[in-house]
Amino acid sequence: MTVTTPALDVVDLGDPATFADHDLDAFWRTLRDTYPVYWNPPVDGRRGFWVLSRYNDIMAAYRDDVHFTSERGNVLVTLLGGGDAGAGRMLAVTDGHRHHELRKILQRVLSPRVLSEVAAAVRVNTRQLIREAVEAGGCDFAEQIASRIPMTTISNLLGVPEQDRDHLLAQTKAALSSDAEDVDEVDSEMARNEILMYFMDMVEERRESPGDDVISMLVASSIDGVPLSDEDIVLNCYSLIIGGDETSRLTMIDGVHTLAAQPEQWRRLKHGEVAIDTAVDEVLRWASPTMHFGRSVVGETELHGVQLRPGEIVTLWHASGNRDERIFDRPGTFDLGRTPNKHLAFGYGPHFCIGSYLAKVEIAELLMALRDFTTGFERTGAALPIRSNFLTGFSSLPVRFRPDHSGMKEVD
Ligand code: HEM
Repeated sequence: MTVTTPALDVVDLGDPATFADHDLDAFWRTLRDTYPVYWNPPVDGRRGFWVLSRYNDIMAAYRDDVHFTSERGNVLVTLLGGGDAGAGRMLAVTDGHRHHELRKILQRVLSPRVLSEVAAAVRVNTRQLIREAVEAGGCDFAEQIASRIPMTTISNLLGVPEQDRDHLLAQTKAALSSDAEDVDEVDSEMARNEILMYFMDMVEERRESPGDDVISMLVASSIDGVPLSDEDIVLNCYSLIIGGDETSRLTMIDGVHTLAAQPEQWRRLKHGEVAIDTAVDEVLRWASPTMHFGRSVVGETELHGVQLRPGEIVTLWHASGNRDERIFDRPGTFDLGRTPNKHLAFGYGPHFCIGSYLAKVEIAELLMALRDFTTGFERTGAALPIRSNFLTGFSSLPVRFRPDHSGMKEVD
């Protein structure tokens, strides 16, 4: 595959192929420097949209729930498709009072204190997977390890039975990203519906025999005295699984891909020269797995001399903001010791990622397991990029691990 630097007017940020076929570094820099409020023109009958590329503008837009709303979708696919079916009910696409109340409910199950058991299970699971892969000499890291960490974690949280997890994982992949070029929006839609139907059955089960999982807790929750409906619960389970699986998975894959290519940074991690938490943040900044989120304008406002009018779509590009030289020193350098590192990977403001703690635990456990059980690793085949205008990363990453025999002797 040839990756080219395109001219400004041939880049269509709505087209998934753009990201697989082009190196956009120069494009983003031009936008940040010259066109901070850029208009991605309509293509083939699809609407045009605004593109914000500077870190400070993205932060300001995330904070501003007066001029912007999430209720007409928060990613290009729904914003361009005319809205999100979960609007006003699913956390990410709900604003105002209801968002505040729903977030309080979900925060109860996603706070560090409540998650301590889930976090302990992440550690055991991650260390076992890495140990097995190191003993085997290598694996497809994306398929055999990264696919199994976030999905197991979210499934534990939601109480999804073991035998259903592979099926659910396949549907999640189809719902959001695509490994193959010929998967279209109809297939994604079907996958999304399948996930929703799966959770509908689970909600019914939990109403009859509640357990101590998130679904049972949601079944018992109400907002302003009105219990959450089956649909509300299903949509928010969907949002946890979609929000929590693929993003963390792609970040881990990118972390291993980058460390395999940057031996000096791996050495710093291996020899304890960088704090794990600091390294996790740089892995997140570097991967920026969600390339954008978006909003619809509800109140006319101006930015850098450009009028943004009600009804228009504004997209906020982490892919650019996390490389903004106005904020980050040497933004194009992967530096595991980077401080400060106020990256945008989890967004900002009222919709700031509610799963950020869990995601950081997963990435930290991965880095610690690699540090303890291997002396190093390298790629043994091509990394296969996903095709999406929302997520970035790889669906396949073959690697060979060199065992750290003294670390492997350790009993967890
Ligand atoms: C929101 C990124 C992991 C669940 C968000 C937002 C971003 C983000 C940027 C803000 C969206 C917006 O403003 O429209 C990420 C990344 C992750 C990750 C990069 C991993 C590396 C997780 C996990 C979960 C999760 C593990 C669940 C356990 C959610 C939910 C929201 C959200 C439910 C909506 C929050 C709200 O609207 O109040 N995430 N996320 N995410 N994330 Fe994550």
